[in-house]
Amino acid sequence: MRTKNYNIRTAGQANIPVLGLGTWQSTGQDCVDVVKKALEMGYEHIDTAQAYGNEKEVGEGIKQSGVARDKFFLTTKIFPDDMKFEPEKLKAAAKKSLKDLDVEYVDLLLLHWPDDRVPLSETIPALCELQKQGLTRHIGVSNFNIDHIIEAKKYADVPIVVNQVEFHPFIKQDTLQAFLNNHHILLEAYSPLARGDVFDNDIIKEIADKHNVTPAQISLAWILSDKHRVAIPKTSNPDHLQGNLDAVGVELSAEELEKIGSLASSNGRKIEHPDYSPEWDD
Ligand SMILES: NC(=O)c1ccc[n+]([C@@H]2O[C@H](COP(=O)([O-])OP(=O)(O)OC[C@H]3O[C@@H](n4cnc5c(N)ncnc54)[C@H](OP(=O)(O)O)[C@@H]3O)[C@@H](O)[C@H]2O)c1
Repeated sequence: MRTKNYNIRTAGQANIPVLGLGTWQSTGQDCVDVVKKALEMGYEHIDTAQAYGNEKEVGEGIKQSGVARDKFFLTTKIFPDDMKFEPEKLKAAAKKSLKDLDVEYVDLLLLHWPDDRVPLSETIPALCELQKQGLTRHIGVSNFNIDHIIEAKKYADVPIVVNQVEFHPFIKQDTLQAFLNNHHILLEAYSPLARGDVFDNDIIKEIADKHNVTPAQISLAWILSDKHRVAIPKTSNPDHLQGNLDAVGVELSAEELEKIGSLASSNGRKIEHPDYSPEWDD
């Protein structure tokens, strides 16, 4: 990793830069360009997934940036589609990701969604084996509820370092967060800008004006005010990259943190989840 002090969160042996670039819906040349620019300007963390269909473009952006592989944290995810969670298919899928990304390893390999068709007793050991083989430095999960994580941990002989879930000011994840904290698993916030909804909230706008920053930065600063979280805002717009990264330096008062924290309604999910989503904790 570069030693630039833009904050690292640690879980297991993983040191994860707190703010990464999300790439869902970044496609084609825009994806290549934004990944390249992000790495050039100092982003140290990129998030992609097989399901995003952009691993080749992410890989091309990495290559064009000229930034060495060991200088940034790279995550991809395996989708349950086509029973890829079957151990052998899962391993083949991981290898295909590395090939498309044109890298020797990723830093974090996630199961993108739980999949009741294939038991975690099969998929988690396969994931652990990929880590031991060096294809990924660390493993984690995404969209897992507490029960899934309890089950997954039974079969993991390496740490599960992350659960990547929806998180932003309009959703409560208190129960899940407390559980993850107890188990030294970071909450990785996806859709941290509520896909743009934070821009229209009066309280967030008012606090942003006071700090002379953007609502995006306030949402990210609020998420990152808790040392057990990382965030991966997506942008395909190079003009938004620097501001999002600079959110790491925005400090909110206790009163502001509480005001933003009170925006969430219980179970107030903002993002449409697929019908195979699990029962969420609240
Ligand atoms: N594990 C999962 O199941 C899962 C699910 C969803 C997402 N994710 C990951 O999380 C990442 C982020 O989540 P997301 O894409 O759902 O939503 P998000 O990051 O909350 O919001 C992205 C939206 O905000 C806009 N935006 C970003 N920065 C901005 C800025 N500074 N000013 C104005 N607009 C800005 C983007 O448009 P522009 O591109 O025009 O800037 C885009 O429309 C994804 O890309 C993906 O990597 C994971």
